[in-house]
Amino acid sequence: MGQQILQIHQHNVAIYFIILLSSTLLHQAQAHQFSQKLSQKTFGLKKEKLSHLHFYFHDILGGDHPTAIRVAEAAMTNTSKTAFGATVILDDPLTVGPEITSKIVGRAQGIYAFADLNEFALLMVLNYVFVEGKYNGSTLSVLGRNAPLTSVREMPIVGGTGLFRFARGYALAKTHSLNATNGVLEYNVYVLHY
Ligand SMILES: *[C@@H]1O[C@H](CO)[C@@H](O)[C@H](O)[C@H]1NC(C)=O
Ligand SMILES: *[C@@H]1O[C@H](CO)[C@@H](O)[C@H](O)[C@H]1NC(C)=O
Ligand SMILES: *[C@@H]1O[C@H](CO)[C@@H](O)[C@H](O)[C@H]1NC(C)=O
Repeated sequence: MGQQILQIHQHNVAIYFIILLSSTLLHQAQAHQFSQKLSQKTFGLKKEKLSHLHFYFHDILGGDHPTAIRVAEAAMTNTSKTAFGATVILDDPLTVGPEITSKIVGRAQGIYAFADLNEFALLMVLNYVFVEGKYNGSTLSVLGRNAPLTSVREMPIVGGTGLFRFARGYALAKTHSLNATNGVLEYNVYVLHY
């Protein structure tokens, strides 16, 4: 009699553990779910906006405080008519007007490299890091080709962060002024974001 009760009890305990185990496994499967569909609206993505940004980009290669530094080159770079292989790292100020003393709205941080054997053309891989107003802390990423001797250069905006999450668009660059150490480029950026 006593033994029978014990067996029933053990049986119930076993069922209890099976239920507990399967609910734990189910819970773990949910906790480690790899992907899931979300509603754009409840995620805060309402209407896509088009923004236009206008600024001047100061590429300062010389003087006491350069902001763009040549860090690498190939053995053939010096004899290449297009400086092929020269690689520059930059942290260039972006200002609201063409003068370097005008208000800073951000910086362009990244790399450009001379990547064309036949004409001057740069591979641009950089982020605009904004500090102005509501854009402070937001970034836009540029990945594109820039042939600096053509009058208007177009580069893709491939993404962004902060206010510019999900960004896509393009940048148009024009040379405002140029001398041996300083290039001032005028940028018009058109970007879709939420
Ligand atoms: C290229 O020329 C520069 C300046 O004349 C020199 O400093 C550098 O060492 C040269 N580089 C190579 C790889 O020859
Ligand atoms: C931008 O944000 C940083 C930190 O979040 C703050 O220190 C800085 O003062 C802000 N800059 C401007 C121009 O508002
Ligand atoms: C080059 O231009 C910058 C401003 O764009 C100026 O500050 C600098 O003095 C100029 N340098 C030369 C050598 O003319």
